[in-house]
Amino acid sequence: MPADPVPGLLGGRPAKMLIGGRWVDAVSGKTFPSVNPSTGEVIADVAEAGPADADRAVAAARAAFEGPWRRMKPVARQELLLAFADAVQDDFDELRLLEALDMGAPIGKRRPGARAWEADILRYFAGWATKIHGETLPNSIPGSVLTYTLREPVGVVAAIVPWNRPVNNAIWKIAPVLATGCTMVLKPAEEACLASLRLGELLTEAGVPDGVVNIITGFGETAGAALTEHPGVDKVAFTGSTTVGREIVKASAGNLKRVSLELGGKSPDVVFADADLDRAIPGAAMGVFAFSGQVCCAGTRIYVERPVYDEFVEGVSEFAGRLKVGDSLDPETKIGPLVSARQLDRVRGYLELGPAEGARRTAGGGRIETGELAHGFFVQPTVFADVRDDMRVAREEIFGPVACVLPFDTIDEVIGRANDTDYGLAGGVWTRDVGKAHRMAAELQAGTVWVNTMLLFDPAVPFGGYKTSGWGLEMGRHGLDEYLNEKSVWLRTD
Ligand code: NAI
Ligand code: MG
Repeated sequence: MPADPVPGLLGGRPAKMLIGGRWVDAVSGKTFPSVNPSTGEVIADVAEAGPADADRAVAAARAAFEGPWRRMKPVARQELLLAFADAVQDDFDELRLLEALDMGAPIGKRRPGARAWEADILRYFAGWATKIHGETLPNSIPGSVLTYTLREPVGVVAAIVPWNRPVNNAIWKIAPVLATGCTMVLKPAEEACLASLRLGELLTEAGVPDGVVNIITGFGETAGAALTEHPGVDKVAFTGSTTVGREIVKASAGNLKRVSLELGGKSPDVVFADADLDRAIPGAAMGVFAFSGQVCCAGTRIYVERPVYDEFVEGVSEFAGRLKVGDSLDPETKIGPLVSARQLDRVRGYLELGPAEGARRTAGGGRIETGELAHGFFVQPTVFADVRDDMRVAREEIFGPVACVLPFDTIDEVIGRANDTDYGLAGGVWTRDVGKAHRMAAELQAGTVWVNTMLLFDPAVPFGGYKTSGWGLEMGRHGLDEYLNEKSVWLRTD
């Protein structure tokens, strides 16, 4: 294991990958740069995995799956999860620093010793490790036949994750893998690999056996595609864009892998006239602007009931204008940069498109091109008012700090409009009327509905998408099922 807390970052050497418990270079010897989006500077070179590395990593994961890991007692896997949780908690400042440097997540003000949410996810799944069991089922077969089920790990999992919350994204996949007794190859996004590599060191320190979690770094079209096509992979767990989700479904057809997908969204957030606007305005605003809008379940289409529409537009625009945009390492920063020059180009395209389509810009609207932020990938938190449902800014996932505000008149109308999208990841509702809250919760076609709040998560509560926002669920009891096969056993006893 390298002596640096972060392989490559501090020592100036290229970061290596974790395969079969060893830190290795790519077979090709190639590397690629990792960039700090706050400054545009290269902060590390990272090994660039190709298909040969995917092969090695899958072989290591298979060997671990067939080895002692398979027979390890549930309580031993539970202890490993708890040890890893402690390691993540102890190392949390370092992990957050890596996220801040690598993808631009604002480091924020953190009280020393504050709980790490990612460690709590691991503790939650540690609890499940000893509670995975089948059932005894009554049957109506003549004679004496015992029927029961066994629940078994699906095997080798390829986990492919995006860059928006590197530690969180990785742990959403690692936790159920360890709890169920699967093994995995994790491929973080090429834009932000460093925190995942640090997690690899922590897994080793926690005593997770070699080959149970392998981490390869590289590009989607090569390393990612090699994993999704690989006949030695039993399941793909993917988080990312809907476009790539479709590619993964096609690529997995060869050996009909199990596939779970957590994909994009264009989530509605509905503000009724009876809402507490003092809460709805900042709540809906941060439901879009948090993490510079690079959140799959951001409430980017804000429908506001006509009587409070003007007041809301004014309030949310003022709020957007007051948010401190800055370097991810500045503890005062509320809104960091976008992850990459590519993402900046994408988002700027939409910033120009909104007014061209007839939207009224009431806050922000452009890149920050002056002062010390000029070298980073910063855009102003932006509000487009008077947006129409058919505009591209209202239909396409922007993945930047861009709120679209649309007026509505009746609850029936807003339900139809909110659901008129191919996506179905999440929805928000702001109202003081409990009847309206329940009706909206029932009518919104989305995997998650937040009422008088936004973007809350808990490891006990499942998360997943309707329609083109995904397949399957993560977190909670339901999240485990995605990593398990259910076997029926028939035993004649007469
Ligand atoms: P992406 O979906 O291309 O990347 C996500 C992960 O998939 C990365 O690890 C990438 O290397 C991998 N990947 C890419 N192509 C692959 C392939 N053919 N086979 C296997 N793996 C592959 O997302 P990208 O390009 O970083 O972002 C583009 C847009 O996608 C964003 O602007 C946003 O709209 C959306 N997006 C949505 C996310 C969500 O959580 N809903 C997360 C990331 C992106
Ligand atoms: Mg980076």
